[in-house]
Amino acid sequence: MSGTVSPRMMLNRNQGAGHTDRRDAWWLEPVLTVLALGLFTAYAIWSVMQNNHYVWGPYLSPFYSPNLAEMFPAIKDWFAFSPAFLVLWIPLGFRGTCYFYRRAYYRAFFWDPPACAVDEPRGQGYSGERAFPFVFQNLHRYFFYLAALLALLHWTHAFQAFFYQGQFGMGVGTFVILLDAVFLTLYVFSCHSWRHLLAGKKDCFSCDNFTKVRHKAWLKQTKLNEHHMFFAWVSLFTVGFADFYVRLVASGAFQEWNTWGLLAGNVLKAAH
Ligand code: FES
Repeated sequence: MSGTVSPRMMLNRNQGAGHTDRRDAWWLEPVLTVLALGLFTAYAIWSVMQNNHYVWGPYLSPFYSPNLAEMFPAIKDWFAFSPAFLVLWIPLGFRGTCYFYRRAYYRAFFWDPPACAVDEPRGQGYSGERAFPFVFQNLHRYFFYLAALLALLHWTHAFQAFFYQGQFGMGVGTFVILLDAVFLTLYVFSCHSWRHLLAGKKDCFSCDNFTKVRHKAWLKQTKLNEHHMFFAWVSLFTVGFADFYVRLVASGAFQEWNTWGLLAGNVLKAAH
């Protein structure tokens, strides 16, 4: 008999959820993931439900982008909830079907398995992502197109954050919103689906000029893709913080420093 351990044998060895011979802190990553994703999701839903304090001066909270209430004022006549809900499904769908987040929440929330070489709650019956409801994870490539549009929108908000009442300037919020646009873009364009779109399913990279260009783009994107997990986490923090910051300033919880206030002879007061 060969010395290798087949997946079947490993399944038969399942000694109960969480059982392992590992002696390191394997549980730390799932615990931190539950905390981070749980807190972010709870905050995002709470913030979107508020339907207030999402605009201040030239700043728009990214959770309310695009600003549907401003674009279509009649929306409140037929939609009783916060208009942000009409857009929220895009970033949620994109992140929820992201290959990295799938790994993270399958481990942290479903214990499927909780970590490498740690037993999961059940030993058999794995159907992967070919059956309902996880078959919908395959929609990720379509969410990518929508997320790319959202990233573009975030750049327009970052640009607008430099202008208040027609006057060029900047405040702390300008950089908070800019940071959100930068990391959202890095997250979206380090996506595996984008990598596949650039040069997936190509057997020959030197056959014509177009495939050569695609190959170069693929190589560059691969470098970004290697840091996809990092961008996924940082962009989650920057988008949440941008909303939090705009909410604080818009609600009057504190007055931010900005050059518009400075020009008005008041360093600390916001330029309402
Ligand atoms: Fe993570 Fe596409 S794989 S965003």
